[in-house]
Amino acid sequence: MLTRKIANLATRSVRYFDVGSGRPMLLLHAFPLSADHWLPQLTRVAPGWRAIAPDLRGFRGVGPAFGLPDEPISMDTYAADALELLAHLGVERAAVAGLSMGGYVAMALARMAPQRLDALVLADTRATADTLEGRAGRDRMIDLAQREGAAAIAREMVPKLLGETTRRHQPDLAHVIQHVIELNPPSAIVAGLQAMKARPDSHDVLAALTCPATIICGDEDTITPVADSEAMHRTIPGSKLVVLPRAGHLSNLEAPDAFTTALFQVAPAPSERATRA
Ligand code: MLT
Repeated sequence: MLTRKIANLATRSVRYFDVGSGRPMLLLHAFPLSADHWLPQLTRVAPGWRAIAPDLRGFRGVGPAFGLPDEPISMDTYAADALELLAHLGVERAAVAGLSMGGYVAMALARMAPQRLDALVLADTRATADTLEGRAGRDRMIDLAQREGAAAIAREMVPKLLGETTRRHQPDLAHVIQHVIELNPPSAIVAGLQAMKARPDSHDVLAALTCPATIICGDEDTITPVADSEAMHRTIPGSKLVVLPRAGHLSNLEAPDAFTTALFQVAPAPSERATRA
């Protein structure tokens, strides 16, 4: 069974999974999940890889050491947290993979510290900022989380997170995801919504990328449809696009084998390739 480890950093503690050994891969989870989101990949880590999957700040948070600061946080806060964890673990450079909100964090990390990226994997995410309508939707969700808590957010989101094929053929997955969401404190959900609402457009970051990049998307994703992935693919020089059939927004859970294969196939940055040769 996989168990979380705890890193006691200077100002806070982080729970994370750390599996395998070799080339490091940081896995950044979607909203409003936790590192549990990555269990199918953590149980399938390819030989020669080390997968590190933290709970983003506040998610799965129990006790003040794992909690949130009083001031609002941003995608940069999550990205800086991830970099701090990697430094704590002695990891200078890593392949960074993020799904949906995890992708927004990965793009913030690429803006903040491109030299720390060995490769980038963006799954079921988008490079654009929220539209006005999207921001109004965030406000409605913030209100719902504050009034009714994580269970109400789960009820609202789970049907949208999964593709039509999964809803029909893997109905149990909805219950698993609902449970993972309900383990999160409403404060983490509200902070995530505020951070997503305020995130900037990241096309400039993607256009300037120099490391290898893979984009993965379920073809039944309705939250960040394939068109969003195609736009990122056009923006990132030399990137690879993998569209997974019969998978929705949580494509790593819905099509775990195909997703994991694409994930661990991402090539290292040229300087890392030279070091390895
Ligand atoms: C996610 O899956 O992380 C969120 O649904 C992304 C979003 O709402 O923009």
